[in-house]
Amino acid sequence: MAEESDKVSQIAELNRKMLESSRCCPLGEARTNIVPGEGDPNAKIMFIGEGPGKNEDLQGRPFVGQAGQLLEQLLGEIGLTRDQVYIANVLKCRPPNNRDPLPQEVEACWPWLRQQIEIINPALIVLLGRFAMERFLPGMKISNVRGKVLRRSIPEIGMKVFMPTYHPAAALYHREWTNPLREDFKKIPRILDLLESGGQDSSMDAGTEWDTLEIGNKKQHEQGRLL
Ligand code: URA
Repeated sequence: MAEESDKVSQIAELNRKMLESSRCCPLGEARTNIVPGEGDPNAKIMFIGEGPGKNEDLQGRPFVGQAGQLLEQLLGEIGLTRDQVYIANVLKCRPPNNRDPLPQEVEACWPWLRQQIEIINPALIVLLGRFAMERFLPGMKISNVRGKVLRRSIPEIGMKVFMPTYHPAAALYHREWTNPLREDFKKIPRILDLLESGGQDSSMDAGTEWDTLEIGNKKQHEQGRLL
């Protein structure tokens, strides 16, 4: 795991490798630019979206279109800028015509995302939309789990804390999702405070701070730890 002081150089090195690796999967053939991700490598929060759209492909930067504007607005409402968090995607290259990512594309890109998570080691990973959620919390339904906080062990990277929520682009399309998305963002500072103070167990006992999640009748504890 990277020391704080190493993270900037390790992310720079990883980005350099990504930029040099032209063709990990067929999406590399059609893209204009690879979109590695950006932000503060020492960030406590990492946002993971789906994949680059047209603007991101042209600029080589994540979330620079309309969805990015909404993301920045929501960050601003909780006192953050995009430079203070880390923003990445499950896919680093744009799928043609913004079609949904294919499972084999998600897996081909996984080593990049895995290394980003390992280096940054964020306290909280916010999963934007169902494709990001599916990579870490397979089989769950975004409308059931959005805004909930889950601790889950992920093969190759270990225990991580996640909050899935709607994708900003989906909220632009389904306007009625904007307020739920906003409410989820508003939880972020409190989640970070609790994680930093190591207070999740006592807040669980208090029974008020954390949503509980059940899949059928099976408590999430059985598959990972629930906050
Ligand atoms: N949608 C995403 O999922 N990622 C981006 O970078 C832009 C739009």
